[in-house]
Amino acid sequence: MSAVFNFTFVPWFRSVAPYIHLHRGKTFVVGIAGEAIAAGKLPHLAQDLALIQSMGVKIVLVHGFRPQVNEQLAAKGHEAKYSHGMRITDSVALDCAQEAAGQLRYEIEAAFSQGLPNTPMAGSTVRVISGNFITARPVGIVDGVDFKHSGMVRKVDTAGIKRTLDFGAMVLLSPFGFSPTGEAFNLTMEEVATSVAIELQADKLIFLTEIPGIRTSPDQPEGEDNPIDTELPLAAAEKLLASLPNPTQPTDTAFYLQHCVKACKSGVERSHILPFVVDGSLLLEIYVHDGIGTMVIDEKLESLREATADDVGGILQLIEPFEKDGTLVKRDRTEIERDADHYTVIEHDGVIFGCAALYPYPEAKTAEMAALTVSPHSQSQGDGERILKRIEQRARGMGLKSIFVLTTRTMHWFIKRGFAQVDPEWLPEARKRKYNINRKSQVLVKNL
Ligand SMILES: CC(C)(COP(=O)(O)OP(=O)(O)OC[C@H]1O[C@@H](n2cnc3c(N)ncnc32)[C@H](O)[C@@H]1OP(=O)(O)O)[C@@H](O)C(=O)NCCC(=O)NCCS
Repeated sequence: MSAVFNFTFVPWFRSVAPYIHLHRGKTFVVGIAGEAIAAGKLPHLAQDLALIQSMGVKIVLVHGFRPQVNEQLAAKGHEAKYSHGMRITDSVALDCAQEAAGQLRYEIEAAFSQGLPNTPMAGSTVRVISGNFITARPVGIVDGVDFKHSGMVRKVDTAGIKRTLDFGAMVLLSPFGFSPTGEAFNLTMEEVATSVAIELQADKLIFLTEIPGIRTSPDQPEGEDNPIDTELPLAAAEKLLASLPNPTQPTDTAFYLQHCVKACKSGVERSHILPFVVDGSLLLEIYVHDGIGTMVIDEKLESLREATADDVGGILQLIEPFEKDGTLVKRDRTEIERDADHYTVIEHDGVIFGCAALYPYPEAKTAEMAALTVSPHSQSQGDGERILKRIEQRARGMGLKSIFVLTTRTMHWFIKRGFAQVDPEWLPEARKRKYNINRKSQVLVKNL
């Protein structure tokens, strides 16, 4: 084994440790689009899910089957029918759905049963348990269209699912539900996953989809200047959703977003849209700081927000002790009053206990994050990180490529969060002129 390997593997493994601790004992509901299975992604997905489960996460897996049902319909020479963005399930389509679900369950169970030596599944023991956990009701007749055997979730047997999870098994659900009269209804993977996540009050709802996530400008074509928005606060996600047309295709921006928003509004703090084409996307989202894909997050209590002139007193009070001990550069009241709208604050019960300012240098496509502070009483609870994420999002929204900080004592905090040190020469011209040589601050940059 080369020495280089030790130097890369050990820090890498340690950097993952906080996320392993964080997620142990949590419940994740993972919805996998049928397209992912059709694209041959199941073996790697099963390996990743088995690994995540072995690190103490309780997993409910919901599979989709859109392409598989359509394939069965085509084989029978029957046309797939849709209305209002939903499948109309006649008796032939119901047969096809049942056949497709049966086949997929076998495939999924088989994928979790592998354990050949020298493969990632070696030594894994994943019990997969499926069952009649979902009670359904018919969609019925909408605008004169009879949806026949298409249904909606009416009830989720949360006690049954929780017992199965506590028993150490992975719960596997097909998009099917049964009415109290025993009639089967064809549901959608997205609705089942969302309802189960809400009823369980899961810690995460994750969709593995055919889209890479939500772009910062969803109506613009993809490109380097229109990256994936890795974190969407619930309020912003709701606003975006309201501006979008009703989705009809899984590739429409609102398609998965509507379910993420619904879950977040109903108490599931984080919901994710990930691309299944990226190998290991689940691991990258869950165990890496910046993740991949889009996470819709309920920031609880609306405490994280942009500052107003009324917050100036609170900001001054918060940063003053750090100015006195030299951690922060002195700023006077007039300067903060003038720049109040550059600040993001965390407020609780009328008290500001965290802040940071963003000063853009649009000509250099970058911005300085300044005065990042969290009150000593509430440090180490992730607020510093929440402010950083919001600042990154504001900068991305301005079309900037990076943010930078000048720091004398907090380098490691920033480096751990994806910043890298650069020479002060790197600074935009306008900022370089104000650089205080005597303070010898280090310059750290994070690409967005
Ligand atoms: C840096 C600061 C904003 C972090 O806020 P926070 O809410 O405590 O941050 P988080 O909860 O997201 O992260 C806390 C982690 O960072 C670590 N940390 C805090 N200060 C650090 C520093 N100076 N260097 C390295 N790590 C640091 C904590 O030990 C904690 O680690 P743990 O989770 O292993 O216990 C806060 O410590 C602060 O206000 N410091 C004083 C002002 C300052 O230095 N601002 C930066 C100006 S450039």
